[in-house]
Amino acid sequence: MNPSDKLIVALDTPSLAEAEKWVKELSSLVKIFKVGKELFTTAGPDAVRMVHAHQCRVFLDLKFHDIPNTVASACEAATRLGVFMMNVHALGGKNMLINAVQAIHKTSAEKNVPAPKLLGVTVLTSLTDRDLKEVGISKKVDQEVEKLAVLVQQSGLDGVVASGQDIGLIRKAAGEKFLIVTPGVRPMWAAHGDQKRIITPKEAMGRGADYIVVGRPITQDKNPSEAAQKILNEMAGN
Ligand code: C5P
Repeated sequence: MNPSDKLIVALDTPSLAEAEKWVKELSSLVKIFKVGKELFTTAGPDAVRMVHAHQCRVFLDLKFHDIPNTVASACEAATRLGVFMMNVHALGGKNMLINAVQAIHKTSAEKNVPAPKLLGVTVLTSLTDRDLKEVGISKKVDQEVEKLAVLVQQSGLDGVVASGQDIGLIRKAAGEKFLIVTPGVRPMWAAHGDQKRIITPKEAMGRGADYIVVGRPITQDKNPSEAAQKILNEMAGN
C-alpha cells in the first residue's frame, strides 16, 4: 500500500480557517485528516464537510462513551456525515460496542453510504498502572489493553487506537486483519512535545501499524508539506 494511504494528519486547532489552510497545503500528499474534539467543538460538521470538499477522508476522533442508545445515535449521525473512520471507548462495555456497530451498518445500508471503520479506544496512553488502580482497575496497562482489544474485536469493531508499544501484543491477540491506528508518532528530527512513549514512522510501520496519526510534527513545521513528505519517505523505508 502507498504510504499516503496510511498517514493521517491531526487537524488540532480551534480554527476552521487554519484547518483548511493545512488541508489545502497537504492534500496532494495526505488523503486522511483527523477531526478531533477541539475542531469539532468549534466548527461542528462543517469541519468534516471542509475535508470532504478537498476530496480527502475524515477520521472523526470524538471517542464516544455513553449509554448504548446515545452512542448508537451519535454513530448514526457520523455515518450520515460520511466519515471514513471513527471511534468509541471500549470501557463503554460490550452492549455499547455492539450497538455502535449495528447502528453504523443499519445507517450505511439505509443511506447507501460506506460504513465508517469503527475503532475502540482501549487505555488512553496518558494513563499509568497507578492511574488504573485509582479508578479500580487492578490489571497492568498492557494486560488491560490486551483484554479490551479482544473485547473490541469480539464485539465486531474493525480495530483499535493503540500506542506503538502495544502493536505487538494486540497483533498477537487479535490477528492480522484487525486495524491498528497509532498516534504518538515522532520522526527523529521532530520535537517530542508532550508525547512520552513515542515511536518513529519507520518503527510504527515495521511493527505493523495500519495507519499512523501525526499532528504537530507536520502542522507546526515551518514547511508542513516538506515535513509530510519526509515522513512519507520514512514510512516507505527510505
Ligand atoms: O501533535 P501530535 O502528533 O502529538 O497529535 C497526535 C494526535 O493523536 C492528537 O490529536 C491526539 O489527541 C491524538 N492521540 C494521541 N494519543 C492517543 C490517542 C490520540 O496523541 N493515545
